[in-house]
Amino acid sequence: MCGIFAVVNDKTNQASQTVLEGLKKLEYRGYDSWGIAIKSAASKLEVEKHVGKIGEAKTSLPEGSLAIGHTRWATHGGVTDANAHPHLDCTGKLAIIHNGIVENYLEFKEDLIKKGHKFSSETDTETVAHLIEEKIKRLPLEKAVFETFNLLVGSNAIGVIDMETETIIACRNGSPLAVGVDEANQQFFLGSDVTAFLKYTNSVHFLEDGEAVVMSRSGVKLYDVKSGKEKPLTLQKLDWKLEDAEKSGYPHFLLKEIMEQKETIAKTAALNETEIIKISESIRNGDKVVLLGCGTASYCALAGKYFLAQAGIESQAYGGYEFLPFSGFANDKTVVIAISQSGETADTLIAARAAKKAGARIVSIVNARGSTLERLSETVLSVGAGPEIAVVSTKAFTAQLATLYLLAKACANKYDEGKQRIKNFKEILDRWMNQDLTDRLIELAKNLIDQEHAYLIGKHLNYPAALEFALKIKETAYIHAEPFAAGELKHGVITLIQKGTPCFVLASNDDVKGEILSSAAELKARGGKIIGIAPFRSEEFEEAVQTPDLGELTVIPNIIVGQFLGYFLGVGRGADPDKPRNLAKSVTVK
Ligand code: F6R
Repeated sequence: MCGIFAVVNDKTNQASQTVLEGLKKLEYRGYDSWGIAIKSAASKLEVEKHVGKIGEAKTSLPEGSLAIGHTRWATHGGVTDANAHPHLDCTGKLAIIHNGIVENYLEFKEDLIKKGHKFSSETDTETVAHLIEEKIKRLPLEKAVFETFNLLVGSNAIGVIDMETETIIACRNGSPLAVGVDEANQQFFLGSDVTAFLKYTNSVHFLEDGEAVVMSRSGVKLYDVKSGKEKPLTLQKLDWKLEDAEKSGYPHFLLKEIMEQKETIAKTAALNETEIIKISESIRNGDKVVLLGCGTASYCALAGKYFLAQAGIESQAYGGYEFLPFSGFANDKTVVIAISQSGETADTLIAARAAKKAGARIVSIVNARGSTLERLSETVLSVGAGPEIAVVSTKAFTAQLATLYLLAKACANKYDEGKQRIKNFKEILDRWMNQDLTDRLIELAKNLIDQEHAYLIGKHLNYPAALEFALKIKETAYIHAEPFAAGELKHGVITLIQKGTPCFVLASNDDVKGEILSSAAELKARGGKIIGIAPFRSEEFEEAVQTPDLGELTVIPNIIVGQFLGYFLGVGRGADPDKPRNLAKSVTVK
């Protein structure tokens, strides 16, 4: 949550524009407010901050080549200009941006006020600026920043700009930071995520917890924050391209990323084979399996549980936020599969760390690169879907699901068969995700546009599919969409169905097809408007969207229908599909 961006030696001398552009790429991390601080020619730090999304915003800041910027997801202090970052110290020579929560900031604030520091915001972040200001009275800048950072409790990343030394210092503990070096132009960048500076360089160092960078006019140096000792800076070249972080002609990232699934799902068949086979061997040899994730990733975990059951493997699936009471049951015969697009979700990390402490082996299925989850895992299955910019997860989810499917097939000694079926997705989706499909879904969205409630049912693999489908509708279109296991209907839920209530029925050509159609009939008998999402026709369906018949993998196109529908409904209802209200892409706080 919150996006950090900074540039040193901006070659255009328009560092505020460069930062603004970078922040637009990071806005998915939070969009309550944004702000920039620049060292202007007048040798001053100039700050501009505004409430609201960056959108088409322009900045009126003066020229300069050293600047920091921030896009905020509010935690401490309301959504106001004053609470927007950057925050200045009392001298106005130092400004700070921050991602995370300083859990112990109140311990310091009172003392700082007594010492005469003037606070202009309600944030925890501003305390850090004044703490550094105090320490700088007796220490060099770097030491003052490191010492201050070492005092902070919680998951945090900070970026500090100092006018006098023309330096930007950044420290990481729990919240992501990457530094980019454009050797040719001697420009240096800092970002919560590499997409923000991919336009300038793909030469990157992902900071580890406890690391800091000092970015000066002459270069970037890496330090250990605790000891203050310099470390070698190792840069890696990423294979991500600029287009991956651009809309490429699509009106929204969400639509682009839905369409990219034509490639990304099939691509997973070419990844991680050796690791998958190895993990499947230990699972077959009796290791207990626990799947973890939050939100969409938790539905992926649940779907994984069904895939593994088909392979004869018993497993458990948890939302990361509910795992702790059970973490003590993990031991060195437990494989914990932690699923996360960002690899930075606080609850998933807490759960994975607890399992690791109990002796479990952590396997992560992640999409973003250089994440905290990757670092704490013994094995990483990187799903290679490329940067997912829209807040709502689509292509990362299906790539993770395909990877779990491959793991289940490997457990059943049928990896090659699974690999071929995943490979086939390219051709199948190319054929199915065409204009006819989107026209049909736009028409359906128009019919549903004024609905405030919808219900969904699915059985077995289509149950997690219904959960994910409903989440897409809720997140993107702000419609209350409630998913149920079809079997649950008669136990209470059916009271909610009235004449005309939209009821999505997700189904496959499987051995529970008859049962789900009976549930559809029961809903219909109570007046429900039945919308079938399935690879077959049925007279129970008043409306239908036909999906390709892919056996147990039919759930993937069934879910894609939900992604599209969420998108079209969201656009139709005037929501911003890339940045739904109140959400942030990386939920790095508990
Ligand atoms: C839904 C969505 C969220 C995330 C959840 C976990 O579209 O994006 O529910 O799935 O916040 O995020 P990651 O996968 O980054 O751990």
